[in-house]
This record gives sequence, structure tokens and C-alpha cells, in this order.
Amino acid sequence: MKISPPVTKKLSDILPTEPTLLMGAGPVPIPEEVAKANSLVISHLGEPMNTIVKKIQEMGQYLFQTKSSKIFGISGPSSSAMEMAVTSFLYPGRKVLILNLGTFSNRFAELARGVGADVVELFPAPASPFRASDVAAALKKERFDVLTIVQGETSCGIKNTELEQIVKLAKSKNVKTIVDTVCTLSTMPFFMDEWGIDITVTGGQKGLSSVAGVSLIAFSEESYAFVQNRETLMPHWCLDPRRANKFWCNHEYHYTAPVNGVNALYEALRLICEETLEKRQERHASSSKLLQTSLEKMGLTLYAPADCRLNSVVAINNPEGINSKELITYIKDTFNVEISGAFGLNVIRVGQMGEQCRPQNVKRVLEAIGKAYVHFGVKLELQVLESL
Ligand SMILES: Cc1ncc(COP(=O)(O)O)c(C=O)c1O
Repeated sequence: MKISPPVTKKLSDILPTEPTLLMGAGPVPIPEEVAKANSLVISHLGEPMNTIVKKIQEMGQYLFQTKSSKIFGISGPSSSAMEMAVTSFLYPGRKVLILNLGTFSNRFAELARGVGADVVELFPAPASPFRASDVAAALKKERFDVLTIVQGETSCGIKNTELEQIVKLAKSKNVKTIVDTVCTLSTMPFFMDEWGIDITVTGGQKGLSSVAGVSLIAFSEESYAFVQNRETLMPHWCLDPRRANKFWCNHEYHYTAPVNGVNALYEALRLICEETLEKRQERHASSSKLLQTSLEKMGLTLYAPADCRLNSVVAINNPEGINSKELITYIKDTFNVEISGAFGLNVIRVGQMGEQCRPQNVKRVLEAIGKAYVHFGVKLELQVLESL
């Protein structure tokens, strides 16, 4: 039996005429330069790719604040960078402490179980980050090989305010650390070398305002040496750092790199370097502050307490009787703005990453959220919008 071609439509007939403003927890809008770079297919080997790769590593050193040369791009989502990190350090007989703050911290536990590691999870008090004292107690009770932690947990909008102390504590106990900066890199201060982090992972589609599907991982020189010298086989071929090193450090073939995505990442990182981390972080802080205070002035409440609230993803408590799904659909259909729901919590989430932190985007999402809640019967002070 032959299969006939399905009835097809042009992509432009599927997409809205006006692009939807992506104000959710990622992917985020990308600058024009990044979009243009993403359309360029070049050879994956030789020049100019060798120069592009080298420059991505140099810019990555700036972003992660590390002198390590072991920075690799990964063809895959941020979760594949998490997977490379976990499979580098964990295998049967090794034990990991997972600091579980929500969906994405929990992914580390799923990945670690998958490679047969011994997994112990720690949970914080509701709506709070991890305290170094609680982690110290856990590290005192048992011996661990690895600790995983997120800088910011996108699913609830909470940041680990004691990340530096926790990482340093782990180091003092000879415990290797894996830090997820997927929704935070370039949006808030981060110092891989100064804090003594072993592996950092991040994705393209959030703070970096690049495309999804090309992620970054940074190994400290010491942690890369551990992987290089380990005798147990790596479970993955694509995600083997020693093979990735061939492409990223020796300019040899590993697999065909996602060339247009690499070009896009190059441009995204270049724009960050041009802006500088200090100015970018300040832009994120002030833009998110404007969003947060305006929401509160309207009469809404935020899920995370102010002292541990992420700037990059803001979770808003739904007033009683509101169904997130209906609200989000209404916002999209009426205002052509997309925001995110949540994993289990009764909140909606708004992103403040990269291009989302522009005054016109903040104004538009505030107006959409305010008017949508009013449409569903919530009493709010909408005149706040006039002062924006
Ligand atoms: C903190 C964090 N870690 C990991 C991930 C997984 O990223 P991806 O969907 O690119 O695999 C996300 C995605 O939202 C995230 O927010």
C-alpha cells in the first residue's frame, strides 16, 4: 500500500499574520541579528566555523565567568546539557544530592536515576529557596559525590539566594556541583570560577535570547579532567564530553553541528558582550521590577516572596475561581500575547528574559493580563496601566 502525501499548508498559513509576542517562560523573542544568523547554513567544518566556535567559547567564558577552555555547545535542548552533566559525573555506585525546588530541579533526579546513581532529594520549605544550613546538615549526614542545584527554578519563580554558599559548602566536602542557569544566565550575577562550580549548564532560548535547540555547557578544567580519566563507559555517544571536545576544542568532526543554530548563538552572545553583563543584568532587574510592582499595584499577588523572587520568571497567584488555561487562551486570542501556565501551582508565569525586557513588551503583557483578569470577573486597578 502506498501512502499519499497529506494535504499541506504553507507555514505562513498556519502562523498568525502578526507574530505572537512570546512573554512566557521561553522561548523568548530573538533580536533581528539572531534571526538573520539563524537562516545562514554554512559548512560545519573548517573556516569560518572554527572561528565562530572559538569566539563562542571566549564569549561563553565571559558569560559563565570562567577561565576554563572546556565550553561546549550541544545540539539539543537545555535538558540535553543537563544530561551531559549528569552522565559525566554519575554512574552506578555514585551518590547525588538533588536540591529539588520544582520541575526542573527534579529533572536532575530523573536523569540521575536513569544512569543508576544513588539519588537523595532535599526539598525546601514551601515557596522558599534552599538554606545553606539545611544543605550543610544533609552533607554532614551522608557522603555524596555530586550535588545538583538550579540558580533559578522556572516552574515557581524562586531563586536560590544562597547558591554561592551552597556550592562552596559542597566543595569543602569534595562534592562536585552541577548548576543549572537555564533561565538565569546573563539576567543576574553568576561567577562559575569564583564560586568554584564544576559544571554549569544553560539553554539558548531564555536569557540569551537565541534559538531553542542549541545549548551550552561549561566544565571546569578539573571536572573535565575527571571525565577524561574516568574508566566507566559514557552511556551516550552524542553527549560524551570527550567527543564534544573534538569539535569544540580541536575543530574535528564529532557530529554535524546545528550550523544555523550555532550562528544564531554566536550573534546572541555577541549582542550580550556588546551590551555588557552589568548593563544587561540592570535591564533585567529594572524591567522585572516594573512588571512586578505594576502587577501588585493592580491588586495581584506574586507567588515568590520578594527576597527570593526571580527576576527572569515571575509567577502570579491566580485569584480565586480563575482557570489558568482559559485565561492564557483568552490572552493569546485577544491580545496575541503568550504567557505560561504552571506545573501544579495555581499561578500564571511571565518571562523577563532577554528581549522580553523591553518597555513596550512589558506594557503589552501587563495590559493583556490586567484586562483578561477583569474579563473573567476579577476586580483590579487598571488605571495603573496609564502611568506606564
Ligand atoms: C531552569 C530550567 N532548567 C531546564 C530546563 C529545560 O530546558 P529545555 O526545555 O530547553 O530542555 C528549563 C526549561 O524551561 C528550565 O527553565
